[in-house]
Amino acid sequence: MDIVLSGIRPTGNLHLGNYYGAVKSFVKLQDEFNCYFFIADWHSLTTHPKPEDIRRSARTILAEYLACGLDPKKSTIYIQSDVPETIELYLYLNMNAYLGELERVTSFKEKARKQPDNVNAGLLTYPTLMAADILIHRSTKVPVGKDQEQNMEMARLYANRFNNKYGVDYFPIPQSFSLAGRGIKIPGLDGSGKMGKSEGNCIYLYDDPAVIRKKVMRAVTDAGPQAPNSEKPEVIQNLFTLLGAVSSKETYDYFDEKWNDMSIRYGDLKKQLAQDIIDTLTPIRERIAEYSANTELLDRIALEGAEKARVSAAKTLRDVREIIGFRV
Ligand code: TRP
Repeated sequence: MDIVLSGIRPTGNLHLGNYYGAVKSFVKLQDEFNCYFFIADWHSLTTHPKPEDIRRSARTILAEYLACGLDPKKSTIYIQSDVPETIELYLYLNMNAYLGELERVTSFKEKARKQPDNVNAGLLTYPTLMAADILIHRSTKVPVGKDQEQNMEMARLYANRFNNKYGVDYFPIPQSFSLAGRGIKIPGLDGSGKMGKSEGNCIYLYDDPAVIRKKVMRAVTDAGPQAPNSEKPEVIQNLFTLLGAVSSKETYDYFDEKWNDMSIRYGDLKKQLAQDIIDTLTPIRERIAEYSANTELLDRIALEGAEKARVSAAKTLRDVREIIGFRV
């Protein structure tokens, strides 16, 4: 069976775009594959976060993913830094990772330009750590966005290089697993293409009803349809895309008809949209609050996840040590 692994950057809170674009798909993947989901807290060290921020952000993101439906009974859910086997594999991979190829990685070059005073070795070897994350469970499918394509290529390079170097067929070559066909791309509320935290145009999963209403009512619109059955301009299409995600088909069709016969009132559409977003998010928001208030439970889930992950990781490492020539 395919082994699916996804690494989650512990930055920021989840928003509707994350939910419909990826997290909902992750929840479904749990029933189809042997899934590993981990919080990539070692990767976040490249920018030297404070200890209290590291602790808090891992717990926050864990609470939110659990609230969305990641299920520790179905998947292995863990925090990267709880599985030290990963670093040993990282060391082995680094011995066959070359300076030139690491320096050519676009995200490295970008970060080096943005933080010239902190071009550390961890930043340079980010792709080998990511390869170690993937290969430690001999994962075959990795759901990632386009921005991770180059890192995935590096992971394939290092898997192939290891296999060739030792004349083995040990690591499966991990494939990028596009969620594009499974998820919905959620637009921003400000008329921009995509909902994202940097754009300040997003609805967070933990937003309460009043906040959601305010944000939706402020969403950008236009002067209204200029002719019957006309094509919707982007800002209006955005609202309909959101409706399509959270509302019933009847609701969607109702407003679509009103658009087509030019009787649409954006205020009504927004009111309905806000209500349907609230209805979708309320159970999630309540679960986020429950998990967040129970750090003991969160820590126990993380610990049990790490124990499961370490069984798989230790097995890989035993094989790798033997292949390389170390005592096992
Ligand atoms: N680099 C990924 C990101 O920025 C996070 C990540 C770390 C990851 N290790 C991984 C993703 C392993 C997939 C597999 O989003």
